[in-house]
Amino acid sequence: MLVTAKKILVPARAKKYAVPAFNVNDLEFLKSVISAAVKMKSPVIVQTSEGAIQYAGMEYLIAMIRVAAKAPVPVVMHVDHGKDLNLIRQAIQSGYTSVMYDGSALPYAENVRNTKKVVSWAHPRGVSVEAEIGALAGIEDFVSVEEKDAKLTSPEEALRFANDTKCDSLAVAIGTSHGAFKFKDKTHLDIERLKKISKLVKLPIVLHGASGVLEDVKELAEKYGAKLGVARGVLDADITQAIKYGVAKINIDTDLRLAFTAGIREAVHDLPKVIDPRKLLEPANLLMREVAMRKMKLFRSAGRA
Ligand code: G3H
Ligand code: 13P
Ligand code: ZN
Repeated sequence: MLVTAKKILVPARAKKYAVPAFNVNDLEFLKSVISAAVKMKSPVIVQTSEGAIQYAGMEYLIAMIRVAAKAPVPVVMHVDHGKDLNLIRQAIQSGYTSVMYDGSALPYAENVRNTKKVVSWAHPRGVSVEAEIGALAGIEDFVSVEEKDAKLTSPEEALRFANDTKCDSLAVAIGTSHGAFKFKDKTHLDIERLKKISKLVKLPIVLHGASGVLEDVKELAEKYGAKLGVARGVLDADITQAIKYGVAKINIDTDLRLAFTAGIREAVHDLPKVIDPRKLLEPANLLMREVAMRKMKLFRSAGRA
């Protein structure tokens, strides 16, 4: 069933588990994610970035996700990193049950002003709003403690932002970054900062850039020709700590992209006579489903639907 993010994220924070939010651009990713959720009896957030909407078209995505949401688990249809206010407004009017307004790169006052605007469109329609404060960047990207403090989310500012905007969930920067190259070394997140944020802000906290860059999946992709170098993600132990301290929504895109890449490369290599795209896509879909299921176990959302 299609539900709002608030409906599944508030209990997640209270019971100390996190709902996975997977980025989808097409039917392959969507079906893999939904079948993982059904198998694991997990609530799930299906999110489409502005890039995904540009790629597939909002109407196609909405139609597919509406069908997917007939599954016997709660499904949220969410706009990820919305920056274009017109696009967000269109999504709210067209059936998305949750939107993110990402004003994290803007000055504080402008971020608040735009987030409030989105809240004023979303709440009367029962649509949830995620907002972001702080700049997402790998913990090693900072050259000094001062720079780190200036860019990562300040707990006091997070509280002020949550009160000023009345958003429903808050994305924070505690040392994660998007993509497959998050850290040069096995670096930890700023869990102490998260603890302070969660003490002040009682909303569900959102962790972006949370892919683990799973070693076995990376190896499989590389075995079949991918060149990923020092790709490295967030440690499982840090995810567990983050959930303990208030994170209730965890965004995963890169780990499914890697699974897709590994699966498709293997199939194209192993099945040189096959031209049926469904047969070539199947191993990729199965691997994406398996990775999604692993996340549901790690985030402790399995069995919560
Ligand atoms: O956070 C960004 C997501 O990974 C979506 O990426 O903008 O390439 O669709 P995208
Ligand atoms: P990853 O690149 O770590 O998967 O993060 C995805 C994300 O934050 C989408 O908003
Ligand atoms: Zn993100």
